[in-house]
Amino acid sequence: MITTAKAKIAGVIGWPISHSRSPLIHGHWLDRYNIDGAYIPFAVKSEDGVEAIRALSKLGFSGTNVTLPHKLTAFQTVDVRDAAAEAIGAVNTVVVQPDGSLHGSNTDAAGLLAHLRASSPGWNATAAPVMILGAGGSARAAIFALLGAGVREVRLSNRTRDKAETLADAFGHKVKIIDWRERSNALAGCGLLVNTTSLGMTGQPALHIVLEDLPRGAVVYDIVYSPLETPLLATARAQGNQGIDGLGMLLHQATPGFEAWFGIKPVVDETLRNVILSDLT
Ligand code: ATR
Repeated sequence: MITTAKAKIAGVIGWPISHSRSPLIHGHWLDRYNIDGAYIPFAVKSEDGVEAIRALSKLGFSGTNVTLPHKLTAFQTVDVRDAAAEAIGAVNTVVVQPDGSLHGSNTDAAGLLAHLRASSPGWNATAAPVMILGAGGSARAAIFALLGAGVREVRLSNRTRDKAETLADAFGHKVKIIDWRERSNALAGCGLLVNTTSLGMTGQPALHIVLEDLPRGAVVYDIVYSPLETPLLATARAQGNQGIDGLGMLLHQATPGFEAWFGIKPVVDETLRNVILSDLT
C-alpha cells in the first residue's frame, strides 16, 4: 500500500548495504500484510554507527536491523539488551520504545532454532550431542540457541583452537573442544552437525569433513545459503542424512523485528523463500 504520514518506519543499518536481503524480506511482508510502513536500507559508514542508531528515536523510527560492521556498536549504544544479545555480544535488532529508549536484541539464535524446529520436528535437543564447526559470531548464536533448547553436550571444533576455547569458557562445561583435525572422528553419536564456518560459501573452499561416523538419523545444518546446496549438504543427503540450508535462518531471524515494528507476526513460507531465492540466483 502507499505509505501515509502515519507510516511506521524501520530499516537496516550497514556498510556496505547493497547486498542485504533484509529490505526484500520485510518489503515482502509489508506488502503481504498490507501495512502502512516502510523498511529502508541505510548505508551508514563504520564511524557513523553510534549517531545513526541514536538518531532512530529522534526521527520517530520504530527501529532497525543492524548488520556489519555495526553489531558491536549497536550492542554498546542501546539502553537495554536481551539475554541473547548479552550472550552473543552483538545486537542485530533495535526497537525504539515508547519513551524513546532503545531495546537491543539478537535474533540469530532464535532464528536458527525456529528454522531447525520447523524443518526437523523430530529433532530432540536432549537425545544426543551436537557438533558445531566454527567459533565466530554465528557459532556463539548457535551455542546459545542449542544450550537454551536443552542440548546437554556441544562438541565445538574450530581451525583456530584459541577461539573455541574462548567460547567454551563463556558457555561452561557443556561445551567440549574438539581439535580441528579430529572433527570427523568426533561425529560419532551426534544428533546434529552445524557448520557455522564460511567454508562451502561461493568463492570459499569446501568444508572437508568425513561424515561416515555421523549416525544416519542425524541432521546436518549449514548456515551457508549461497549456494543453497553446499558440498557438505550434498554429501550429507547422499548418505541419507537430512540436510538443512541456511536460508531459513536468514528468514526466521527477521520475524521478531518485523513483529515489534509493524505489529504482525509474519509467516516464513515457500513464497518468501522463493522471493529471496530468485534474488540470489
Ligand atoms: P561469523 O560471525 O559469521 O561466525 P566469522 O567470525 O568471520 O563469521 O567466523 C568465520 C569462521 O569460519 C571462523 O570460525 C573461521 O575459523 P578461524 O577462527 O580459524 O578463522 C572459519 N573459517 C574461515 N575460513 C576457514 C578455513 N579456510 N578453514 C577453516 N575454518 C575457516
